[in-house]
Amino acid sequence: MQIFLDTANYHEIAERYATGLVSGITTNPTLVRKSGVDYFDFIRTLSRDFAFESISAEVDGKNADEMIENAQQYIKIGSEVTIKLPLTKEGLIACKILSDEGVKTNVTLCFSAAQAVMTALAGATYISPFVGRMNDNSFSGVELVRAIGGLYSAKRVETKVLAASLRDVHHVSRCLLYGADVVTLPTAVFDKMYNHVLTDAGLAIFEKDFKEING
Ligand code: E4P
Repeated sequence: MQIFLDTANYHEIAERYATGLVSGITTNPTLVRKSGVDYFDFIRTLSRDFAFESISAEVDGKNADEMIENAQQYIKIGSEVTIKLPLTKEGLIACKILSDEGVKTNVTLCFSAAQAVMTALAGATYISPFVGRMNDNSFSGVELVRAIGGLYSAKRVETKVLAASLRDVHHVSRCLLYGADVVTLPTAVFDKMYNHVLTDAGLAIFEKDFKEING
């Protein structure tokens, strides 16, 4: 069971890295555009400054050859750099070639169990079902994770299920219970994972009692 952070903001990452609870990072073109960083420099800086198990960098390209060419710059950075590819025919062709070469891969934008079958056959390291975007479109994201988790476990598939597009705390534990190996979280969701109103209320009472017993 692992938590990755889904962000392209260096300071957000550094602050949470210090907790020791974060194992990796996922990025995408939208997150990079919003943070205004240079994609390649950002991935290289993360690799230099932190010891993550996986840092996903999404590649662009009209076909598998272009995606593989785009991936080359990232592969040189370090073995934790994980090439993120779209769940399309060309993305899976690129995934198979890169996976066979021992490169870590993350196949993104998964919305069905059928797509998960193809991704497993392409030898991906991770598959990213998009829970929130399923829910946005009136499908159950958690059920998608359950279907993929059940299938991969029954067939002993090594591809790890990386539940993505998670927008609230309540889906996190359910995804992990239903078969996700990893969840990738926006930092706002990660921060909320610690919190409970009853913890705050209980702590307030204990702090008051501490004052009394300690004078
Ligand atoms: C995952 O790899 C994606 O970067 C991300 O989780 C997408 O989340 P969104 O649907 O909230 O944009």
